[in-house]
Amino acid sequence: MDELAQLDESLVCRLDTGPRHLSPCTLIIFGASGDLTARKLVPALYHLYLAGALPEPFHVVGVARREKSDAAWREELFAALQRFSRTQPVDRARWEAFATRLHYLAGDGTNPATHRRLAEHLAGLGSEPLRRNRLFYLATSPSRFASIAAGLHAAGLLRRDEESPFWQRVVVEKPFGHDLASARELNAALTRHTEERQLFRIDHYLGKETVQNLFVFRFANAIFEPLWNRQAVDHVQITVSEQAGVGTRGAYYEEAGALRDMVQNHLLQVLALVAMEPPGSLEAEAIRDEKVKLLRALRPIPPEEVRRRVVRGQYTAGENAGAPQRAYRAEPGVAPDSNVETFVALRLWVDNWRWAGVPFYLRTGKQLPLSASEVRLQFRRPPHVLFAARCGPRLDANSLTLRLQPNEGISLHINGKVPGAELTLRPVRMHFRYDTEFGAYTPEAYERLLLDVLEGDPTLFIRRDEVEVAWAFVDAIRADWADQPLTEAEFYPAGSWGPPAADALLAADGNAWRNPQSGI
Ligand code: BG6
Repeated sequence: MDELAQLDESLVCRLDTGPRHLSPCTLIIFGASGDLTARKLVPALYHLYLAGALPEPFHVVGVARREKSDAAWREELFAALQRFSRTQPVDRARWEAFATRLHYLAGDGTNPATHRRLAEHLAGLGSEPLRRNRLFYLATSPSRFASIAAGLHAAGLLRRDEESPFWQRVVVEKPFGHDLASARELNAALTRHTEERQLFRIDHYLGKETVQNLFVFRFANAIFEPLWNRQAVDHVQITVSEQAGVGTRGAYYEEAGALRDMVQNHLLQVLALVAMEPPGSLEAEAIRDEKVKLLRALRPIPPEEVRRRVVRGQYTAGENAGAPQRAYRAEPGVAPDSNVETFVALRLWVDNWRWAGVPFYLRTGKQLPLSASEVRLQFRRPPHVLFAARCGPRLDANSLTLRLQPNEGISLHINGKVPGAELTLRPVRMHFRYDTEFGAYTPEAYERLLLDVLEGDPTLFIRRDEVEVAWAFVDAIRADWADQPLTEAEFYPAGSWGPPAADALLAADGNAWRNPQSGI
């Protein structure tokens, strides 16, 4: 047995002591017929129920326009759960016990009549906390967020909680606006009826175990901190690649594109956690303050530099995942002459003391060869003496790779001597795998995030200033792209790692992308 396997319990540090204090409440989902509800929200609630983690009693009301009965809604959700559940097979009896909590209310979420019926429904619930602790989950099209909130307020269901022992909270799905101006408008509209602390802007990447572990890795270990800066780090690569194309979401994606859909939120959030300064405490505001400071330290990209620092791409037909794939322009819901980007690569600079002069390369795209999210810190090369003098560029620089998904793990790449009479060097890997260490437990991001909202903990949610600073950054890029049709060089075949310009972006600095490997 190795040393770690025998770890003394006294070295296990439990920061969350005891069960969470969750009060009974009603969760009202707007967008109850949507994909998110069926794929993510209800499976997450079901698993929380199985774990005994939901408050008791707990009541769910799904609101959507189509007429249907409770029974029909539950049946649809059960069918989806069988497809998307992280645990298989789904136990029908346990589902049925859980499903007694699910109720459906047909109506337009922006229509006062719907709010009145919702108020009546809530008034009919036996327990006072169920009636008065309300969690509104806005999973509709973003253009409806503001009017749903205004309607709830007008019906007396949502107000700023000042002195009440009961609470009302609003969860807002992404995208939070489509640019800085619309995000500001939405912030203003929502905070007309809520305090900032009642608003939970979701970025589901923050609910992922490995993304949270970035924080633990950096601030619970002392040995990496002296390396986590411009003295030791040559550059940082963040890759979030997806093998799938846009699938059935073409209409949404036409309005979004990779920059809005992935960079403005998920990639900048991962970057913030990788590069932020240590917060003064583990309090939500201390952590969010540091993330905002980091995002504010991003060097703005002036229009004349967008071409040099940002690469966009769109996939064409190709072969991927062992099958022929259609071009983005041939996907359902996509215009045949669409200029929307399905790939983005950027070179960023963080203008602060720690990171001055260290390039951060970020990329994300659809129809890439592999689905993987990875952060790689590439360290500086050894000085040009001894082995480095003899091997030249063949001596690999050390690197640390944090694999966020799938095959979650952390690898340190170092150089080692190949055993034998000859002197041969090659990179070797020290690798930590989550599943080997902790078993194959992979809770969905939404489980953690829903629990946090039920508890009122905003740490893993995006604060108002955070969302605005992220939009300001990406808006500058979009402004340059607007009305510029894609050029031939910006297309990439499905199944490749993006347009050649993405490689050129790093090559200009003498660097190269390290592509995630499958099955590491
Ligand atoms: C969503 C985007 O926020 O994140 C999708 O809208 C994307 O386009 C998805 O596919 C990726 O999330 P995950 O958890 O599968 O990496």
